[in-house]
Amino acid sequence: MLKIRVPASSANMGAGFDCLGVALSVYNYIYVNQTGHGLVIEAEGEGKDKIAKDEKNLVYQSMKKVFEYAKKSVDGLYIKLENNIPLSRGLGSSSACIVGGMTAANALLGNPLTDREILNLALLEEKHPDNITPCLVGGFTASMVYENEVYYIKKDVPDKISFLLIIPDFTLKTKKSREILPQNILLNDAAFNISHSTIFALGMYSENFDIFKVALKDKIHQPYRSHFISDFDDILKKCEEFGALGAYLSGSGSTIAAILYDSDRGKVENGIRKYLDKTNKCWKVITVKADNLGATVEKIQ
Ligand code: HSE
Repeated sequence: MLKIRVPASSANMGAGFDCLGVALSVYNYIYVNQTGHGLVIEAEGEGKDKIAKDEKNLVYQSMKKVFEYAKKSVDGLYIKLENNIPLSRGLGSSSACIVGGMTAANALLGNPLTDREILNLALLEEKHPDNITPCLVGGFTASMVYENEVYYIKKDVPDKISFLLIIPDFTLKTKKSREILPQNILLNDAAFNISHSTIFALGMYSENFDIFKVALKDKIHQPYRSHFISDFDDILKKCEEFGALGAYLSGSGSTIAAILYDSDRGKVENGIRKYLDKTNKCWKVITVKADNLGATVEKIQ
């Protein structure tokens, strides 16, 4: 039996739309075994009753893509999913299924595919690389697509940095959250985002985290998507007031993520919890670390 651990991920990180992302220490687990015949899928945890348990299952579908690519077949599969990543909250749950399934299939076949091949296959399913890359390789990543291939640079995130996740009690589908975006943006807004995302990424790379206070601002997606989340601008301001370095809409939402020094987690968490209570929001607040490993495979029997 193989046990695959896949991390959640938080994409965009302010101005880095469809480019920047970070893997987080919230994990889905996939247990997989070759059985000789049939397909059995069991699921526990987040979305367990909504998830398909037949050939339509996203993890299984993703495994199949690897078998087809490698021109190999596997007789019979038992798949057990233990899901901790909330669905449709901007925390990379579908990337975790795709990357997790592909990693599982690759491991079953004896790892014929490289990370680059897995990323390029995953891109066909996910369309943008900012969740799949950190999910596969861990850490903070800047990714781009050139002629249908994913290119990325990774940086491990040190332990002194934490991520506060403010997870609303409602879902937001990526499709709906992308449809609201304009097809054309102003040159000034493009220049604003290029400068901010570059400074943010270099700040992360050189561990000059204080620059996040200004570099996390965005003009090309959050202003449009913020309408889906009540008090969005206020919550971002509150995160800063309570001591976070900055906050942003995680992926296409609905989660808001704040980046902070771990030493400030108590005051930021307490402040945000009290603020959410006052505004009658029963939203979940958790503080997590970056995951610097990405998808891992362990043989357990
Ligand atoms: N970059 C993507 C978006 C992430 O913001 O729509 C969602 O998968």
